[in-house]
Order: sequence, then structure tokens, then C-alpha cells
Amino acid sequence: MLKNDSLLTDGLALGLRGRDLLCVRDLSEDEIYRVFAVASVLKSELRQGVSHSLLSGKSLGMVFKKSSTRTRVSFEVGIWQLGGHGLHLNCSDIQLGRGESIGDTAEVLSRYLDGIMIRTYDHDEVIKLAWYASVPVINGLTDLFHPCQALADMFTAYEKKGKLTGLKLAFIGDGNNMANSLLCICAKLGVHMSLACPAGYEPPQSVVEMAQSDAALTGAELEIVNDPLKAVKDANIVYTDVWASMGQELEQAKRAKCFAKYQVNKSLMAAARPDALVMHCLPAHRGEEITADVIDGENSVVFDEAENRLHVQKAIMSLLMT
Ligand code: CP
Ligand code: NVA
Repeated sequence: MLKNDSLLTDGLALGLRGRDLLCVRDLSEDEIYRVFAVASVLKSELRQGVSHSLLSGKSLGMVFKKSSTRTRVSFEVGIWQLGGHGLHLNCSDIQLGRGESIGDTAEVLSRYLDGIMIRTYDHDEVIKLAWYASVPVINGLTDLFHPCQALADMFTAYEKKGKLTGLKLAFIGDGNNMANSLLCICAKLGVHMSLACPAGYEPPQSVVEMAQSDAALTGAELEIVNDPLKAVKDANIVYTDVWASMGQELEQAKRAKCFAKYQVNKSLMAAARPDALVMHCLPAHRGEEITADVIDGENSVVFDEAENRLHVQKAIMSLLMT
């Protein structure tokens, strides 16, 4: 069955067409809820067997400098479900990996594609790619931000809790790309966030300041603490991520020691609200940042978050690339 596609994004795509998504701060609160509205329709209609060809004839290039399961599969399947085509461009296979400039790569890819998704290390590379590209660029994770994951996470919380404003999210662990993106999205959506990390592993001050400036407008209270028990007190959502991110493999042993007290386990969860959602962007290391009984327990929504990457990214592509 094919449903009227234009009705789905008309109006909602206003002002979003042709834009980049490099950080969740690129979207206003209203635009984030428009992404959620489209994602929600696409999700329920997919389950009813209703198809859409919103991206018919469109192609998305997916440039990867780092490994991926969820991002690669959800973008590729997502654009295919909407009638378009995704090209997996591993950096070691394309000339970018042999030193062709980001600028020339962006110019060339823009002549073939309708959008570029990139996963890389240095966030400045994504900014540069977007500067030179004439098609929308979507950040599929950098060392600094992971906006698609944060959007899927908040969409998941919204589905489960029915609201976001006024909720409290506790992030336990490294002040990394996930922590940064969650700070930004919580600030935009009026979600209080308490981040507990060891001294020296806080998010960059520049990110905290940007988030604080948005929080001042929405009433979100953001705090960085060292005590995980303080962070999880009264939390509606308890979120964690790996202690060593991609690119930090050599620091694994040192980090395991520094973060030992920052594990999300049953005793930490006892200090949160009894119905607190357990979140993790995955991949997870059971027995390190989170115990198996918690990530596989009844409050865990980690696989809903992973599924929602698909629906939210289909919405993002439909709004930016049509
Ligand atoms: N959460 C996430 O982005 O997973 P991948 O690294 O598998 O894409
Ligand atoms: N912080 C993790 C997230 C993986 C999706 C990393 O960058 O490796």
C-alpha cells in the first residue's frame, strides 16, 4: 500500500529542506518535535505495512572512518524503505582515505548524491564537509557529537514517558560524544540532566556553555558532578556509554581503573526512581560500564533506542533531503 507521501512532510519540512544536521543544536525545539512526529507516523505505518516513497530516486552516501552496526544498517535500510538508495563508502575504499581533500570529496559527492552521512573522528572534518557540500550533511558520529543517537534516545523516552519536559536524565561515565549530545538535547527540550564522571573526564567547557545557554531558555537544570549516587537521585532515565570510545582503545586499561566506581548496577539503580528507564547507545560492555542484570533487566529500553534509530533517521532524511 502506498500512502500520500507529501501529506506526511508538507508543512513539517518547512525550513528544514537542504539543511545539515551536525549537532542537535542545529535544530530548534519545535524542529525536534517535528522529527519525532514524522518518525512516529513512519514507525506505526511500517508496522501496518504502509509504505512511503518519500526518497524515491534519492541517494545517500555513507562515509565511514570508524566501525558501525546500528548507524550503517539503519541508514541503509531506512533510505531503501523510503524508495531511495544508500551507498556504503568505507574510507579505506575511497580516495579520501588516500589523502583526497575533504573539500574536493564534498564537491564531487554533491554532484552524485542527495545527502551525505559521515562518521569520523575529528568534528571539524564534518563541519568542513558541510561547508563544501551542496547537499545536506548528517553527522553519523564524531569524537564530539552523536546527534542521531541523541534524537533517537529522546524519541524513545518520549514514547515511554509521554513527555520530556521536566524529566531528569542521569548520565554516568565519560564526558564523551554521547554525553555532549545528551547535554545539548536535554537543554533544548527542558530535560534536567545530571552527569557524573571522574575528575578529568568532564565534557568540554565549550559544550557545557552552549548547552547552558539553551537551558536558560527552557528551564533545564544541567549539572556535572563526581558522585554517581547524586546524579541518579530521582532520575527518570539512567544513561551510560562505554568507558573507552572508538579511537581510545589504547587508554582502555587506564580508563577501566578510573571509571570503576561509575558502573550502572543494581545498587546504583536503587537510588533512581523505580520506573527509571535504563538507556545505552550500544555497543555495550556488560560487566564494565553496566551490569548484565541491569542492561537485560525490565527497565532497559536499549533495543528500542536501537530500533528508533531507523525511524528517527528516516524522518531526518525525509525532512532534510526532499
Ligand atoms: N549506537 C551506534 O551508533 O552504534 P554503531 O556504532 O553500531 O553505529
Ligand atoms: N562513545 C561511543 C559511542 C558509540 C556509538 C564511541 O564513540 O565509540
